[in-house]
Amino acid sequence: MSDTINVALPKGRLGERVYRIFEESGLGCPGVTDPSTRRLIFENPGAGVCYFWVKPSDVAIYVERGAADIGVAGKDILLEYSPEVYELMDLRIGKCRMCVAAKKGYHDSTARTLRVATKFPAIATDYYRSLSRSIDIIKLNGSIELAPILGLSDVIVDIVETGSTLRENDLEVITTITDISARLIANKASTKFKADGISRLVLALKDRKGSI
Ligand code: PRP
Repeated sequence: MSDTINVALPKGRLGERVYRIFEESGLGCPGVTDPSTRRLIFENPGAGVCYFWVKPSDVAIYVERGAADIGVAGKDILLEYSPEVYELMDLRIGKCRMCVAAKKGYHDSTARTLRVATKFPAIATDYYRSLSRSIDIIKLNGSIELAPILGLSDVIVDIVETGSTLRENDLEVITTITDISARLIANKASTKFKADGISRLVLALKDRKGSI
């Protein structure tokens, strides 16, 4: 088996920040952030790393199935899909919160089933189960904030980063369910068969100047 460590990076701003951390840790690879290329795979044989750009919500799938040895995924994705991977490190970037939010002044009535719109049905279900509250999940794929405004749901369970989307739509946080940040994850078999390479990489990240 090749000793190259295959790394799944989440496409987008967070992924580029993550890649900078790898680069500053001596694990760079020419071309990875070149905006003029549509290439998805970049290998640096000297450093023993190969990067792939993947959709953020797919990183855990690549890592779970071993197509990538390690990757970076948001804690939201890990909580929602519970992939069979090891969580190696909190990178302490991409920080946000998973919250319940509703229209300003919303008053809950426990007498009836709560309608919850979300991209995260498992997180919402677990949270309300812990409160023994019966809910009706409305699974949406984006612009979740519209749901309570249009009367599609009573509340939403969604990510809040700066809070501007809520503010600009007259919504407010009712409860924070959990804090979220980017996590370094690893394929379980790779941590055995590529133990040295993965430890080297984790150490390099930890030793990075201005450490995480
Ligand atoms: C996410 C999330 C909120 C927004 C929160 O949406 O679902 O809508 O960001 O960020 P803020 O607190 O900084 O305003 P995303 O941008 O991923 O788009 P989406 O509506 O397509 O899910």
